[in-house]
Amino acid sequence: MSFIQSSDNSITFVVLPSQSLLGHIRVPGDKSISHRSIMMGALAEGKTSITGFLEGEDTLATLKAFRELGVTIKGPENSKVEISGVGIHGLQAPSKPIYLGNSGTSMRILAGLFSGQSFDTTLIGDISLSKRPMKRVCDPLSKMGAVIETTDKGTPPLYIYGNRTLNGMNYDMSIASAQVKSSLLFAGLYAKGKTCITEPAPTRDHTEKMLAGFGYPVEKKDNCICIIGGGKLHSTEIDIPADISSAAFFMVGAAISQESEVILEHIGINPTRTGIINILKLMGAQIEVEELGTVGGELVGTIYVRSSQLHGIDIPKHLVPLAIDEFPALFIAAACAKGTTTLSGAEELRVKESDRIQVMADGLNTLGIKAQPTPDGIIIEGGKIKGGSVHSHGDHRCAMSFSMAALASQDTITVNDCANVATSFPGFLELASNAGLAIHTI
Ligand code: S3P
Repeated sequence: MSFIQSSDNSITFVVLPSQSLLGHIRVPGDKSISHRSIMMGALAEGKTSITGFLEGEDTLATLKAFRELGVTIKGPENSKVEISGVGIHGLQAPSKPIYLGNSGTSMRILAGLFSGQSFDTTLIGDISLSKRPMKRVCDPLSKMGAVIETTDKGTPPLYIYGNRTLNGMNYDMSIASAQVKSSLLFAGLYAKGKTCITEPAPTRDHTEKMLAGFGYPVEKKDNCICIIGGGKLHSTEIDIPADISSAAFFMVGAAISQESEVILEHIGINPTRTGIINILKLMGAQIEVEELGTVGGELVGTIYVRSSQLHGIDIPKHLVPLAIDEFPALFIAAACAKGTTTLSGAEELRVKESDRIQVMADGLNTLGIKAQPTPDGIIIEGGKIKGGSVHSHGDHRCAMSFSMAALASQDTITVNDCANVATSFPGFLELASNAGLAIHTI
């Protein structure tokens, strides 16, 4: 029996050369925060109400996983979810392997959470997820006492054994990864004593912030985050801001096109996520951010972006983890910029939903732009986008990035394998076409 389920990647986007992007845009809820809201809501005592939940395939996979573990979850309906939390020790054994689709975040974080249960779990995913490296979480979790089996290559399925005693540990992460950090923090909830994780560079800190929001003490000093196992999470209300990673496509689209102006509303602008804004500003983009305050510990604001004259830059290395999901979109900005843009220190892009360096380089070359992949980055010469037929390789962010390139293209861009856009951005087609992108599917 094969544990790998394939997704239907038969959707093709056809995007005609488009003039401008205009208007007020509210993109769906933040994916990272949506995943964590389900996980913590399920482990909390009492009812947690969530608004702004992302109804995308990835976050729905997390939601379904907890239903399979006996948690009652109402919704999602109009982005609202209500979870009847079962407490840290209240999850029940699932009756079958848990399918997590395309979602690396679900699999890596749940590996930590499930390591602390009294029952065994098997985690499986689609073709892309089944190729993604899991040793980065399994190795440190095994240091805590977890027992997890992977394939010989360190890829899914994951067989996680229950009834193990976890012990807190001090762990220096070698990769800047919020998924690894979060996985270890969730395991730390079940561990004896203190779990301290040191990051090589700051990464998104939604787990730490949300744990505190659920009343769980978290210590943070410089780049070290510690929790002590054995505590409780208390139910709460969560208002999830719109996802800056989804807004990124519109930021780039507006910056590269003529007479454009977009106003992106209620965006999560947590400083661990705003690398895209800093990088676009360094490239000369006209972007303004209006901070509106903090909602549930997360900073929220309005982002204004206008047509811009972009120029190439060497992307500062410290911004890489803070813009890790936005590079496909940033490569389109670089393709439209005057001069050369160089990215290095971003080898992680090779193990995302696709090898984003290769997939974007191949597509840009097809579109008439010189893009030279390097082991840990890319060198892009700005130029004129011609149009053509490119492949997203089932990668949602590559698909949406190539679509936005039509705002600076001479001819039609056809993007193949776009079904996975639904993993993170349901409604992308409608929002993008309402804003002015001449996009349809075949
Ligand atoms: C995420 C962390 C990042 C990011 C992913 C979401 C998270 O992955 O690319 O889309 O929610 O923790 P890494 O931890 O692999 O950098």
